[in-house]
Amino acid sequence: MEQTHFDLVVIGGGPGGYGAALYAASAGLSVAVVERDKVGGTCLHRGCIPAKEFLETAAVVRAVKSAGEFGVVVEPKALDWNVVLQRKQQVIDRLFGGVSQLLKGRKVHVFAGTGTLGANRNVTVVGADGDRATITGDAVILASGSVPRVIPGFEPGGPVVTSDEFFDITQVPYRSVVIGGGAIGCEFASTLADLGSQVTMLEALPKILPGCDEDVTRVVGQSFKKKGIEVRTGVSVEGHTPNASGGTTVRLAGGDAVDCELVVVSVGRRPLTDGLLEPGTGVQLTDRGHVDVDDRYRTHAEGVYAIGDVIDSPQLAHVAFAEAISVVRSVLGEDGAPVANDFVPWAIYCNPEVAFAGYSESVARERGFEVVTSKHRFAANSRAMIIGETEGLVKVIAERNADGTAGRILGVHMVGPWVTEQLSGGYLAVNWEATVDEVAAFLQPHPSLSELFGETVLSLTGRSLHG
Ligand code: NAI
Repeated sequence: MEQTHFDLVVIGGGPGGYGAALYAASAGLSVAVVERDKVGGTCLHRGCIPAKEFLETAAVVRAVKSAGEFGVVVEPKALDWNVVLQRKQQVIDRLFGGVSQLLKGRKVHVFAGTGTLGANRNVTVVGADGDRATITGDAVILASGSVPRVIPGFEPGGPVVTSDEFFDITQVPYRSVVIGGGAIGCEFASTLADLGSQVTMLEALPKILPGCDEDVTRVVGQSFKKKGIEVRTGVSVEGHTPNASGGTTVRLAGGDAVDCELVVVSVGRRPLTDGLLEPGTGVQLTDRGHVDVDDRYRTHAEGVYAIGDVIDSPQLAHVAFAEAISVVRSVLGEDGAPVANDFVPWAIYCNPEVAFAGYSESVARERGFEVVTSKHRFAANSRAMIIGETEGLVKVIAERNADGTAGRILGVHMVGPWVTEQLSGGYLAVNWEATVDEVAAFLQPHPSLSELFGETVLSLTGRSLHG
Protein backbone atom coordinates (compact mmCIF):
# COMPACT_ATOMS: atom_id res chain seq x y z
CA MET A 1 0.00 0.00 0.00
CA GLU A 2 1.25 3.43 -0.87
CA GLN A 3 2.51 5.54 2.01
CA THR A 4 0.02 8.27 3.00
CA HIS A 5 1.65 9.94 6.00
CA PHE A 6 4.88 11.91 5.73
CA ASP A 7 7.07 14.09 7.90
CA LEU A 8 6.60 16.77 5.24
CA VAL A 9 4.06 17.28 2.46
CA VAL A 10 4.80 19.99 -0.10
CA ILE A 11 2.15 21.34 -2.46
CA GLY A 12 3.83 22.56 -5.64
CA GLY A 13 6.98 21.23 -7.29
CA GLY A 14 8.67 24.45 -8.44
CA PRO A 15 11.98 25.68 -7.01
CA GLY A 16 10.36 26.35 -3.61
CA GLY A 17 8.61 22.99 -3.47
CA TYR A 18 11.24 20.71 -4.96
CA GLY A 19 13.94 22.65 -3.09
CA ALA A 20 12.15 21.99 0.21
CA ALA A 21 11.69 18.34 -0.71
CA LEU A 22 15.33 17.77 -1.63
CA TYR A 23 16.70 19.59 1.39
CA ALA A 24 14.28 17.84 3.78
CA ALA A 25 15.01 14.43 2.28
CA SER A 26 18.75 15.06 2.55
CA ALA A 27 18.16 15.69 6.25
CA GLY A 28 16.39 12.33 6.61
CA LEU A 29 12.73 13.39 6.55
CA SER A 30 10.08 11.43 4.65
CA VAL A 31 8.67 13.76 2.03
CA ALA A 32 5.81 13.95 -0.47
CA VAL A 33 5.49 16.53 -3.24
CA VAL A 34 2.17 17.15 -4.97
CA GLU A 35 2.57 18.51 -8.50
CA ARG A 36 -0.08 18.61 -11.22
CA ASP A 37 2.27 19.46 -14.07
CA LYS A 38 6.01 18.83 -14.08
CA VAL A 39 8.46 19.26 -11.25
CA GLY A 40 10.65 22.27 -11.93
CA GLY A 41 7.72 24.67 -12.04
CA THR A 42 7.56 28.03 -13.74
CA CYS A 43 11.31 28.64 -13.44
CA LEU A 44 12.29 25.53 -15.37
CA HIS A 45 9.45 25.17 -17.85
CA ARG A 46 8.09 28.68 -18.55
CA GLY A 47 10.43 31.16 -16.90
CA CYS A 48 14.04 31.63 -15.94
CA ILE A 49 15.55 28.71 -17.85
CA PRO A 50 13.90 29.13 -21.29
CA ALA A 51 14.30 32.93 -21.01
CA LYS A 52 18.05 32.57 -20.54
CA GLU A 53 18.18 29.98 -23.31
CA PHE A 54 16.57 32.43 -25.77
CA LEU A 55 18.88 35.19 -24.50
CA GLU A 56 21.85 32.96 -25.28
CA THR A 57 20.67 32.59 -28.87
CA ALA A 58 20.50 36.40 -28.93
CA ALA A 59 24.07 36.55 -27.58
CA VAL A 60 25.27 34.22 -30.33
CA VAL A 61 23.59 36.45 -32.92
CA ARG A 62 25.47 39.46 -31.47
CA ALA A 63 28.73 37.49 -31.45
CA VAL A 64 28.28 36.53 -35.10
CA LYS A 65 27.48 40.13 -36.03
CA SER A 66 30.63 41.39 -34.33
CA ALA A 67 32.87 38.51 -35.46
CA GLY A 68 34.47 40.70 -38.13
CA GLU A 69 35.86 43.01 -35.42
CA PHE A 70 37.87 40.05 -34.11
CA GLY A 71 39.16 39.14 -37.54
CA VAL A 72 36.78 36.23 -37.93
CA VAL A 73 35.03 36.34 -41.27
CA VAL A 74 31.64 34.66 -41.20
CA GLU A 75 28.95 34.60 -43.77
CA PRO A 76 25.64 35.98 -42.62
CA LYS A 77 23.32 33.10 -41.88
CA ALA A 78 19.62 32.98 -41.12
CA LEU A 79 18.10 32.06 -37.79
CA ASP A 80 16.69 28.53 -37.76
CA TRP A 81 13.89 28.99 -35.26
CA ASN A 82 13.13 25.27 -35.06
CA VAL A 83 16.65 24.62 -33.82
CA VAL A 84 16.28 27.46 -31.29
CA LEU A 85 13.08 25.87 -29.94
CA GLN A 86 14.61 22.38 -29.94
CA ARG A 87 17.72 23.52 -28.08
CA LYS A 88 15.61 25.31 -25.48
CA GLN A 89 13.54 22.16 -24.99
CA GLN A 90 16.63 19.95 -24.72
CA VAL A 91 18.03 22.11 -21.94
CA ILE A 92 14.68 22.05 -20.12
CA ASP A 93 14.31 18.28 -20.58
CA ARG A 94 17.80 17.56 -19.26
CA LEU A 95 17.24 19.72 -16.20
CA PHE A 96 13.77 18.20 -15.68
CA GLY A 97 15.35 14.76 -15.84
CA GLY A 98 17.96 15.86 -13.32
CA VAL A 99 15.44 17.19 -10.79
CA SER A 100 13.24 14.10 -11.22
CA GLN A 101 16.23 11.82 -10.64
CA LEU A 102 17.31 13.74 -7.57
CA LEU A 103 13.82 13.46 -6.07
CA LYS A 104 13.67 9.75 -6.88
CA GLY A 105 17.16 9.17 -5.52
CA ARG A 106 16.15 10.75 -2.22
CA LYS A 107 12.94 8.71 -2.11
CA VAL A 108 10.65 11.72 -2.32
CA HIS A 109 7.12 10.58 -3.25
CA VAL A 110 5.83 12.71 -6.11
CA PHE A 111 2.03 12.65 -6.30
CA ALA A 112 0.72 13.71 -9.72
CA GLY A 113 -2.33 15.89 -9.31
CA THR A 114 -3.75 19.04 -7.78
CA GLY A 115 -3.21 19.31 -4.05
CA THR A 116 -5.76 20.99 -1.80
CA LEU A 117 -5.10 21.61 1.86
CA GLY A 118 -7.88 20.67 4.29
CA ALA A 119 -8.05 20.81 8.07
CA ASN A 120 -5.38 19.11 10.21
CA ARG A 121 -2.80 19.07 7.42
CA ASN A 122 -4.83 16.69 5.27
CA VAL A 123 -3.96 17.17 1.62
CA THR A 124 -6.30 15.86 -1.06
CA VAL A 125 -4.68 15.04 -4.38
CA VAL A 126 -6.89 14.90 -7.45
CA GLY A 127 -5.19 13.45 -10.51
CA ALA A 128 -5.89 14.41 -14.12
CA ASP A 129 -8.08 11.29 -14.46
CA GLY A 130 -10.13 12.28 -11.38
CA ASP A 131 -8.43 9.79 -9.04
CA ARG A 132 -8.35 11.02 -5.44
CA ALA A 133 -5.91 10.34 -2.66
CA THR A 134 -5.53 11.87 0.77
CA ILE A 135 -2.14 12.28 2.37
CA THR A 136 -1.11 13.91 5.63
CA GLY A 137 2.03 15.55 6.90
CA ASP A 138 3.43 16.51 10.29
CA ALA A 139 4.28 19.69 8.41
CA VAL A 140 2.89 21.05 5.14
CA ILE A 141 4.50 23.63 2.87
CA LEU A 142 2.38 25.57 0.40
CA ALA A 143 4.55 26.37 -2.63
CA SER A 144 1.96 26.77 -5.39
CA GLY A 145 3.74 29.70 -7.05
CA SER A 146 2.30 32.41 -9.26
CA VAL A 147 0.82 33.02 -12.70
CA PRO A 148 1.21 35.98 -15.06
CA ARG A 149 -1.07 38.93 -14.40
CA VAL A 150 -3.15 39.94 -17.38
CA ILE A 151 -4.56 43.32 -18.31
CA PRO A 152 -8.26 43.44 -19.24
CA GLY A 153 -8.46 43.52 -23.02
CA PHE A 154 -5.07 41.80 -23.38
CA GLU A 155 -6.02 38.23 -22.52
CA PRO A 156 -3.59 35.73 -24.09
CA GLY A 157 -4.62 34.45 -27.52
CA GLY A 158 -3.72 35.23 -31.13
CA PRO A 159 -0.89 37.77 -31.16
CA VAL A 160 -1.09 38.37 -27.37
CA VAL A 161 1.13 36.26 -25.12
CA THR A 162 2.38 36.23 -21.55
CA SER A 163 5.53 34.43 -20.46
CA ASP A 164 3.41 31.24 -20.41
CA GLU A 165 3.12 31.31 -24.21
CA PHE A 166 6.16 33.33 -25.25
CA PHE A 167 8.55 30.38 -25.33
CA ASP A 168 6.47 28.61 -27.97
CA ILE A 169 6.25 31.42 -30.53
CA THR A 170 6.75 29.95 -33.99
CA GLN A 171 8.77 32.78 -35.49
CA VAL A 172 10.47 36.03 -34.59
CA PRO A 173 7.86 38.75 -35.17
CA TYR A 174 8.70 41.62 -37.47
CA ARG A 175 7.40 44.11 -34.89
CA SER A 176 6.62 43.46 -31.23
CA VAL A 177 5.13 45.38 -28.34
CA VAL A 178 6.22 44.53 -24.82
CA ILE A 179 3.85 45.83 -22.14
CA GLY A 180 5.68 46.26 -18.83
CA GLY A 181 9.33 47.22 -18.36
CA GLY A 182 10.16 44.97 -15.41
CA ALA A 183 12.59 42.05 -15.38
CA ILE A 184 10.55 39.88 -17.74
CA GLY A 185 9.75 42.76 -20.11
CA CYS A 186 13.41 43.77 -20.36
CA GLU A 187 14.63 40.21 -20.92
CA PHE A 188 12.05 39.59 -23.65
CA ALA A 189 12.52 43.00 -25.32
CA SER A 190 16.28 42.50 -25.38
CA THR A 191 15.93 39.01 -26.86
CA LEU A 192 13.46 40.09 -29.52
CA ALA A 193 15.50 43.13 -30.55
CA ASP A 194 18.74 41.12 -30.87
CA LEU A 195 16.86 38.57 -32.97
CA GLY A 196 15.80 41.32 -35.36
CA SER A 197 12.32 42.34 -34.21
CA GLN A 198 11.40 46.03 -33.99
CA VAL A 199 10.43 46.39 -30.34
CA THR A 200 8.31 49.01 -28.60
CA MET A 201 8.26 48.77 -24.81
CA LEU A 202 5.33 50.37 -23.00
CA GLU A 203 5.81 51.05 -19.30
CA ALA A 204 3.19 52.71 -17.08
CA LEU A 205 5.69 54.13 -14.57
CA PRO A 206 8.14 56.98 -15.32
CA LYS A 207 11.06 54.52 -15.68
CA ILE A 208 11.75 50.92 -16.60
CA LEU A 209 13.22 48.42 -14.13
CA PRO A 210 11.64 49.93 -11.03
CA GLY A 211 13.75 48.92 -8.04
CA CYS A 212 17.07 49.25 -9.88
CA ASP A 213 19.50 52.07 -9.16
CA GLU A 214 18.98 55.10 -11.43
CA ASP A 215 22.50 54.87 -12.90
CA VAL A 216 21.87 51.27 -13.88
CA THR A 217 18.49 52.01 -15.43
CA ARG A 218 20.04 54.84 -17.45
CA VAL A 219 22.65 52.49 -18.98
CA VAL A 220 19.97 49.92 -19.86
CA GLY A 221 17.81 52.66 -21.40
CA GLN A 222 20.70 53.96 -23.55
CA SER A 223 21.69 50.50 -24.61
CA PHE A 224 18.12 49.50 -25.49
CA LYS A 225 17.89 52.64 -27.61
CA LYS A 226 21.03 51.60 -29.53
CA LYS A 227 19.44 48.22 -30.17
CA GLY A 228 16.47 50.00 -31.66
CA ILE A 229 14.07 49.33 -28.78
CA GLU A 230 11.68 52.22 -28.41
CA VAL A 231 11.02 52.61 -24.69
CA ARG A 232 7.92 54.63 -23.89
CA THR A 233 7.40 55.35 -20.20
CA GLY A 234 4.41 56.87 -18.41
CA VAL A 235 2.01 55.39 -20.95
CA SER A 236 -1.14 53.37 -20.48
CA VAL A 237 -2.60 50.88 -22.91
CA GLU A 238 -6.31 50.98 -23.67
CA GLY A 239 -6.82 47.92 -25.83
CA HIS A 240 -5.89 46.40 -29.15
CA THR A 241 -7.53 45.78 -32.49
CA PRO A 242 -6.47 42.57 -34.25
CA ASN A 243 -6.07 42.69 -38.03
CA ALA A 244 -6.76 40.10 -40.71
CA SER A 245 -3.12 39.03 -41.08
CA GLY A 246 -2.72 37.86 -37.48
CA GLY A 247 -1.19 41.06 -36.11
CA THR A 248 -2.79 43.78 -34.08
CA THR A 249 -2.78 47.49 -33.28
CA VAL A 250 -2.19 48.44 -29.66
CA ARG A 251 -4.07 51.58 -28.63
CA LEU A 252 -2.59 53.94 -26.05
CA ALA A 253 -4.34 56.54 -23.91
CA GLY A 254 -4.07 59.87 -25.69
CA GLY A 255 -4.77 58.42 -29.13
CA ASP A 256 -1.42 56.91 -30.17
CA ALA A 257 -1.32 53.41 -31.63
CA VAL A 258 1.42 50.84 -32.34
CA ASP A 259 1.13 48.12 -35.01
CA CYS A 260 2.77 44.79 -34.32
CA GLU A 261 2.66 41.05 -34.90
CA LEU A 262 3.23 40.10 -31.23
CA VAL A 263 2.18 41.65 -27.91
CA VAL A 264 3.99 40.40 -24.83
CA VAL A 265 2.21 41.19 -21.58
CA SER A 266 4.71 41.24 -18.70
CA VAL A 267 3.05 43.31 -16.01
CA GLY A 268 3.86 41.17 -13.00
CA ARG A 269 2.71 37.86 -11.56
CA ARG A 270 -0.06 37.09 -9.08
CA PRO A 271 0.08 34.44 -6.36
CA LEU A 272 -1.66 31.20 -7.34
CA THR A 273 -4.04 30.07 -4.61
CA ASP A 274 -6.99 28.99 -6.79
CA GLY A 275 -8.25 25.67 -5.41
CA LEU A 276 -5.38 25.47 -2.91
CA LEU A 277 -7.38 25.70 0.30
CA GLU A 278 -10.55 24.02 1.53
CA PRO A 279 -12.62 26.14 3.90
CA GLY A 280 -11.61 25.84 7.54
CA THR A 281 -7.86 25.33 7.17
CA GLY A 282 -7.10 28.47 9.15
CA VAL A 283 -4.67 29.65 6.45
CA GLN A 284 -5.32 33.32 5.68
CA LEU A 285 -4.65 35.38 2.58
CA THR A 286 -3.53 39.01 2.47
CA ASP A 287 -5.45 41.80 0.71
CA ARG A 288 -3.28 41.22 -2.36
CA GLY A 289 -4.01 37.50 -2.41
CA HIS A 290 -0.74 36.16 -1.01
CA VAL A 291 -0.71 33.47 1.66
CA ASP A 292 -0.16 35.39 4.88
CA VAL A 293 2.96 34.25 6.76
CA ASP A 294 5.00 35.47 9.71
CA ASP A 295 8.76 36.04 9.65
CA ARG A 296 9.36 32.27 9.74
CA TYR A 297 7.02 31.52 6.83
CA ARG A 298 4.36 30.12 9.21
CA THR A 299 0.77 30.53 8.06
CA HIS A 300 -2.06 30.97 10.55
CA ALA A 301 -2.58 27.17 10.56
CA GLU A 302 -0.47 25.05 12.91
CA GLY A 303 2.33 23.24 11.08
CA VAL A 304 1.51 24.82 7.71
CA TYR A 305 4.13 27.01 6.03
CA ALA A 306 4.22 28.87 2.73
CA ILE A 307 7.17 29.88 0.55
CA GLY A 308 8.00 31.16 -2.92
CA ASP A 309 5.83 33.30 -5.18
CA VAL A 310 2.66 32.45 -3.27
CA ILE A 311 3.86 34.68 -0.40
CA ASP A 312 4.79 38.33 -0.59
CA SER A 313 8.56 38.06 -1.04
CA PRO A 314 10.89 38.70 -4.02
CA GLN A 315 9.67 36.47 -6.88
CA LEU A 316 13.00 34.80 -7.50
CA ALA A 317 13.81 31.09 -7.65
CA HIS A 318 16.86 31.47 -5.42
CA VAL A 319 14.74 33.25 -2.79
CA ALA A 320 12.31 30.32 -2.90
CA PHE A 321 15.24 27.89 -2.38
CA ALA A 322 16.44 29.90 0.60
CA GLU A 323 12.93 30.08 2.08
CA ALA A 324 12.62 26.31 1.59
CA ILE A 325 15.82 25.72 3.55
CA SER A 326 14.68 28.09 6.28
CA VAL A 327 11.35 26.27 6.73
CA VAL A 328 12.87 22.79 6.68
CA ARG A 329 15.36 23.87 9.32
CA SER A 330 12.49 25.14 11.47
CA VAL A 331 10.67 21.83 10.96
CA LEU A 332 13.84 20.05 12.11
CA GLY A 333 13.88 22.21 15.24
CA GLU A 334 16.90 24.21 14.09
CA ASP A 335 17.17 27.98 13.71
CA GLY A 336 15.64 28.62 10.30
CA ALA A 337 16.79 32.20 9.93
CA PRO A 338 14.59 33.95 7.36
CA VAL A 339 15.79 35.53 4.12
CA ALA A 340 16.71 39.23 4.36
CA ASN A 341 14.50 40.37 1.49
CA ASP A 342 16.22 43.75 1.11
CA PHE A 343 19.57 42.11 0.47
CA VAL A 344 18.89 39.20 -1.87
CA PRO A 345 20.84 39.00 -5.13
CA TRP A 346 18.99 40.19 -8.22
CA ALA A 347 20.06 39.14 -11.69
CA ILE A 348 18.34 40.33 -14.85
CA TYR A 349 19.76 38.74 -17.96
CA CYS A 350 18.84 41.25 -20.65
CA ASN A 351 21.70 42.72 -22.68
CA PRO A 352 23.33 44.54 -20.97
CA GLU A 353 22.89 42.37 -17.89
CA VAL A 354 21.89 43.84 -14.54
CA ALA A 355 22.84 42.48 -11.12
CA PHE A 356 22.55 43.98 -7.69
CA ALA A 357 22.28 43.36 -3.98
CA GLY A 358 21.33 45.80 -1.27
CA TYR A 359 20.01 49.33 -1.37
CA SER A 360 20.04 51.55 -4.42
CA GLU A 361 21.34 55.06 -3.76
CA SER A 362 17.84 56.54 -3.52
CA VAL A 363 16.50 53.77 -1.26
CA ALA A 364 19.55 54.06 1.03
CA ARG A 365 18.84 57.78 1.40
CA GLU A 366 15.12 57.12 1.94
CA ARG A 367 16.08 54.71 4.74
CA GLY A 368 17.93 57.57 6.40
CA PHE A 369 21.52 56.64 5.57
CA GLU A 370 24.16 59.25 4.77
CA VAL A 371 25.97 57.68 1.84
CA VAL A 372 29.16 57.84 -0.18
CA THR A 373 29.07 56.31 -3.65
CA SER A 374 31.56 55.35 -6.30
CA LYS A 375 31.01 54.39 -9.94
CA HIS A 376 33.43 52.83 -12.38
CA ARG A 377 32.76 52.08 -16.02
CA PHE A 378 33.58 48.98 -18.01
CA ALA A 379 34.79 51.32 -20.77
CA ALA A 380 38.18 51.47 -19.02
CA ASN A 381 38.35 47.77 -18.07
CA SER A 382 40.86 45.67 -20.00
CA ARG A 383 38.81 42.46 -20.19
CA ALA A 384 35.73 44.40 -21.28
CA MET A 385 37.77 45.88 -24.14
CA ILE A 386 39.12 42.46 -25.06
CA ILE A 387 35.65 40.93 -25.27
CA GLY A 388 34.35 44.03 -27.01
CA GLU A 389 31.62 44.79 -24.45
CA THR A 390 32.50 48.05 -22.78
CA GLU A 391 29.03 49.31 -21.89
CA GLY A 392 28.06 49.47 -18.26
CA LEU A 393 29.31 50.24 -14.80
CA VAL A 394 29.70 49.11 -11.23
CA LYS A 395 28.34 51.33 -8.49
CA VAL A 396 28.96 50.81 -4.80
CA ILE A 397 26.96 52.60 -2.14
CA ALA A 398 28.54 52.80 1.31
CA GLU A 399 27.42 54.30 4.59
CA ARG A 400 29.18 57.58 5.27
CA ASN A 401 31.13 57.52 8.53
CA ALA A 402 31.03 60.54 10.86
CA ASP A 403 34.47 61.62 9.59
CA GLY A 404 33.27 61.53 5.99
CA THR A 405 35.00 58.28 5.02
CA ALA A 406 33.16 55.34 3.52
CA GLY A 407 32.10 52.59 5.93
CA ARG A 408 29.71 49.65 5.62
CA ILE A 409 28.76 48.61 2.09
CA LEU A 410 25.00 49.04 1.66
CA GLY A 411 24.53 48.25 -2.00
CA VAL A 412 26.40 46.91 -5.02
CA HIS A 413 24.86 47.60 -8.43
CA MET A 414 26.20 46.37 -11.73
CA VAL A 415 25.21 46.66 -15.36
CA GLY A 416 27.30 45.29 -18.20
CA PRO A 417 28.93 42.11 -19.53
CA TRP A 418 28.37 38.96 -17.46
CA VAL A 419 27.57 40.96 -14.31
CA THR A 420 25.10 38.27 -13.21
CA GLU A 421 28.18 36.07 -12.74
CA GLN A 422 30.14 38.82 -10.96
CA LEU A 423 27.69 39.79 -8.25
CA SER A 424 28.63 37.17 -5.66
CA GLY A 425 31.48 39.27 -4.16
CA GLY A 426 29.16 42.26 -3.87
CA TYR A 427 26.38 40.12 -2.46
CA LEU A 428 28.71 38.71 0.19
CA ALA A 429 29.96 42.19 1.07
CA VAL A 430 26.44 43.54 1.56
CA ASN A 431 25.18 40.57 3.55
CA TRP A 432 28.34 40.25 5.63
CA GLU A 433 27.86 43.93 6.46
CA ALA A 434 31.46 44.33 5.39
CA THR A 435 33.12 47.74 5.25
CA VAL A 436 34.85 49.31 2.29
CA ASP A 437 38.26 48.88 3.97
CA GLU A 438 37.67 45.17 4.58
CA VAL A 439 36.59 44.41 1.01
CA ALA A 440 39.30 46.62 -0.54
CA ALA A 441 41.92 44.33 1.01
CA PHE A 442 40.84 41.43 -1.22
CA LEU A 443 42.31 40.76 -4.67
CA GLN A 444 40.54 40.36 -7.99
CA PRO A 445 42.23 38.54 -10.85
CA HIS A 446 43.80 40.68 -13.56
CA PRO A 447 42.66 41.04 -16.25
CA SER A 448 39.04 40.34 -15.39
CA LEU A 449 35.65 41.99 -15.50
CA SER A 450 35.38 41.55 -11.74
CA GLU A 451 38.34 43.90 -11.27
CA LEU A 452 35.87 46.70 -11.74
CA PHE A 453 34.14 45.82 -8.48
CA GLY A 454 37.55 45.75 -6.76
CA GLU A 455 38.49 49.14 -8.24
CA THR A 456 35.19 50.67 -7.24
CA VAL A 457 35.54 49.56 -3.64
CA LEU A 458 39.23 50.52 -3.53
CA SER A 459 38.46 54.04 -4.70
CA LEU A 460 36.02 54.43 -1.80
CA THR A 461 39.01 54.11 0.57
CA GLY A 462 40.18 57.45 -0.78
CA ARG A 463 43.07 55.92 -2.74
CA SER A 464 43.08 53.96 -5.96
CA LEU A 465 44.99 52.28 -8.76
CA HIS A 466 43.28 52.83 -12.07
CA GLY A 467 40.02 54.39 -10.87
P1 NAI B 1 7.56 43.32 -12.59
O1 NAI B 1 6.65 43.58 -11.48
O2 NAI B 1 9.01 43.19 -12.36
O3 NAI B 1 7.40 44.45 -13.72
C1 NAI B 1 6.15 44.74 -14.28
C2 NAI B 1 6.23 46.10 -14.91
O4 NAI B 1 5.02 46.33 -15.62
C3 NAI B 1 6.37 47.22 -13.90
O5 NAI B 1 7.40 48.07 -14.32
C4 NAI B 1 5.01 47.91 -13.95
O6 NAI B 1 5.08 49.29 -13.70
C5 NAI B 1 4.57 47.65 -15.38
N1 NAI B 1 3.14 47.67 -15.60
C6 NAI B 1 2.17 47.18 -14.82
N2 NAI B 1 0.95 47.37 -15.39
C7 NAI B 1 1.17 47.99 -16.57
C8 NAI B 1 0.34 48.43 -17.63
N3 NAI B 1 -0.98 48.25 -17.58
N4 NAI B 1 0.92 49.05 -18.70
C9 NAI B 1 2.25 49.22 -18.75
N5 NAI B 1 3.08 48.83 -17.79
C10 NAI B 1 2.56 48.20 -16.71
O7 NAI B 1 6.96 42.00 -13.30
P2 NAI B 1 7.52 41.05 -14.43
O8 NAI B 1 8.60 41.69 -15.22
O9 NAI B 1 6.32 40.56 -15.12
O10 NAI B 1 8.16 39.89 -13.58
C11 NAI B 1 7.38 39.16 -12.63
C12 NAI B 1 8.22 38.75 -11.47
O11 NAI B 1 9.20 37.80 -11.84
C13 NAI B 1 8.95 39.92 -10.86
O12 NAI B 1 8.96 39.84 -9.47
C14 NAI B 1 10.33 39.77 -11.39
O13 NAI B 1 11.28 40.37 -10.59
C15 NAI B 1 10.47 38.27 -11.47
N6 NAI B 1 11.43 37.94 -12.50
C16 NAI B 1 12.74 38.08 -12.26
C17 NAI B 1 13.65 37.82 -13.25
C18 NAI B 1 15.06 38.01 -12.96
O14 NAI B 1 15.40 38.41 -11.87
N7 NAI B 1 15.93 37.75 -13.93
C19 NAI B 1 13.26 37.40 -14.58
C20 NAI B 1 11.87 37.33 -14.73
C21 NAI B 1 11.00 37.60 -13.71
